[in-house]
Amino acid sequence: MTNDILSALYQRRSRREFTESTVAVEDLEEIIRAGIWAPSGLNNQPWRFVIITAEETRQQLATTTHYSHIVLAAPALIAVYLDKESMYDEVKDHQAAGACIQNMLLAVESLSLGAVWLGQILKQKARVNEILGVGDTVDLMAVLAIGHPSQTNQQSTRKELNHFILKKM
Ligand SMILES: Cc1cc2nc3c(=O)[nH]c(=O)nc-3n(C[C@H](O)[C@H](O)[C@H](O)COP(=O)(O)O)c2cc1C
Repeated sequence: MTNDILSALYQRRSRREFTESTVAVEDLEEIIRAGIWAPSGLNNQPWRFVIITAEETRQQLATTTHYSHIVLAAPALIAVYLDKESMYDEVKDHQAAGACIQNMLLAVESLSLGAVWLGQILKQKARVNEILGVGDTVDLMAVLAIGHPSQTNQQSTRKELNHFILKKM
């Protein structure tokens, strides 16, 4: 495919297995930069981030989700939050968070890294906030587990396009 953007969209996969190589801080910042260039309603940029690479913190976070093996395997994690004080519309701000996270996932792939969007961890968001030392002025949207993928042949499927199109008028 010659269209770089479409090709990145279609080739992105959730990566859940990583080598032990660390992720450069510059790469983590680039991933966040890609996130903050997502659109947001009124350009309110409601997203906030916590970068986690410390082994001890990763071990603590691993206790908050069924996906502890992924959290433990990933040398870096980014917790993505919405800043409640910056929010202006529940739905639109959550949509902006989704756009931000997808930008981040695409940036990850473009840097030859791999990531998975962890949502199950939200069930224990109060505990996550406690571990990360953030107050309740921010609301956890996701944790991205990031690393150098140890394999890149993951398959994924989607239903046929027509399944999703309600009408052509
Ligand atoms: C809101 C949301 C929450 C998710 N939560 C998890 C999760 O907790 N654990 C996990 O392994 N994958 C999680 N995923 C990744 C999905 O399982 C994955 O995107 C889906 O199976 C499609 O695979 P693909 O990303 O490789 O195309 C989540 C994805 C989204 C968008």
